[in-house]
Amino acid sequence: MLLTIADLLSPEELAELTSTLAAAEFVDGKLTAGWHAQLVKQNTQLSKDDPILDRLCQLVRTSLNRHPLFQTAIQPSIIHTFLFSRYDVGMSYGLHVDNALMGSGDRRYRSDVSWTIFLSDPATYTGGELVIEGSEGVQAFKLKAGSAILYPSSFLHRVESVTEGVRFAAVGWVQSLIRDPAQRDMLFDLDAVRRSLFQKEGKTTEFDLITKTYANLLRQWAEF
Ligand code: NI
Repeated sequence: MLLTIADLLSPEELAELTSTLAAAEFVDGKLTAGWHAQLVKQNTQLSKDDPILDRLCQLVRTSLNRHPLFQTAIQPSIIHTFLFSRYDVGMSYGLHVDNALMGSGDRRYRSDVSWTIFLSDPATYTGGELVIEGSEGVQAFKLKAGSAILYPSSFLHRVESVTEGVRFAAVGWVQSLIRDPAQRDMLFDLDAVRRSLFQKEGKTTEFDLITKTYANLLRQWAEF
């Protein structure tokens, strides 16, 4: 499932991120790409040693964690990797798939879900669409500043060349309690149905049966 979340960031959070990033120094994005993705990654990103990184990661983590759709659709176990990227004119990120495993040592995580939060007003730059080759075909996204898209990390994707202006974005990865995207989708649908039933008719026998099934599937599928 491709999930867009409009206005994930509050206006204050967006303002803090954009003003901080506008004054920050960026390094070559190839430093954090896999050996194959390096061939097509032409952008810049905030250095992993930059002291402002912790504050920005905390801000983004909070915004994701408080959103109910993020919880029910993604079933996050851990949001483990954050990148803040800057695309100037001529920069792009060609077609690639994200690394399946990230981190090192005893801090290794699976990438189950990838997210991008658009940080620049789309009217201020040309190009820079995020293009995702998903199960429903190829779709291009250029969202309002502060809005996010989440998609299975197993999908091929690319960022179109920026031909005017500057495109800032925050991207990152989640290890989900439910590794299989199809199982995540089924749980999401079941959860939506039981909540709707509850709203309409309260705690009926049907609600109890669906809730039992939801809980038992979660018990079978969840991985920590
Ligand atoms: Ni990617």
